Amino acid sequence: MKKIAIFASGSGSNAENIINYFQNDAENVVKIVFCNKPNAYVLERAKRLNVPTFVFGREDFYHSDMVLNELKRLDIDMIVLAGFLWKVPDAIIEAYRERVVNIHPALLPSYGGKGMYGMKVHESVIAAGEKESGITIHYVNDHYDEGATIFQARCEITPEDTPDTLAEKVHALEYEHFPRVIKEVLEKI
Ligand code: GAR
Repeated sequence: MKKIAIFASGSGSNAENIINYFQNDAENVVKIVFCNKPNAYVLERAKRLNVPTFVFGREDFYHSDMVLNELKRLDIDMIVLAGFLWKVPDAIIEAYRERVVNIHPALLPSYGGKGMYGMKVHESVIAAGEKESGITIHYVNDHYDEGATIFQARCEITPEDTPDTLAEKVHALEYEHFPRVIKEVLEKI
């Protein structure tokens, strides 16, 4: 059985979708949700779905081995960043090379990098008058949003679209593709 750890910082709708997807999978399991915000809604979702959670602070993450030790203790095989907004420390990336994936709510390399997350991305895409956006699922390396792309999917932007309606379209793509792509990555581990 391969074990997945999800990292999330906010609402966690992707985390919930991934947990549900793997609930009936005989080969893979979501073992834990790591979260850097004690009041993030993802913690309630995980609790409701009976997935253990681990909350950590900035000091724990960047100046101790607390998170890496917990990943090792649970024998985690793959890390999934699902709306996780902090840069992952090098020690974790090195321990999990080619085994950390992130989802970005736009077509990288455009609209990526530090500070580009969630609604900020959709606001920038709409403000630039883009005709399409989408999702990018990629490996995580030591530079924000620069790891190798695994998968992209696109959606059209109409003149009526707002950052909110674009966010809905992008979320729909995320729910459709992210769990399946995670499963494909797991098959190569
Ligand atoms: C998702 O759209 C994800 O792509 C984005 O945050 C949202 C989290 O939604 N991630 C980033 O912007 C990372 N740079 P959720 O908490 O409902 O899953």
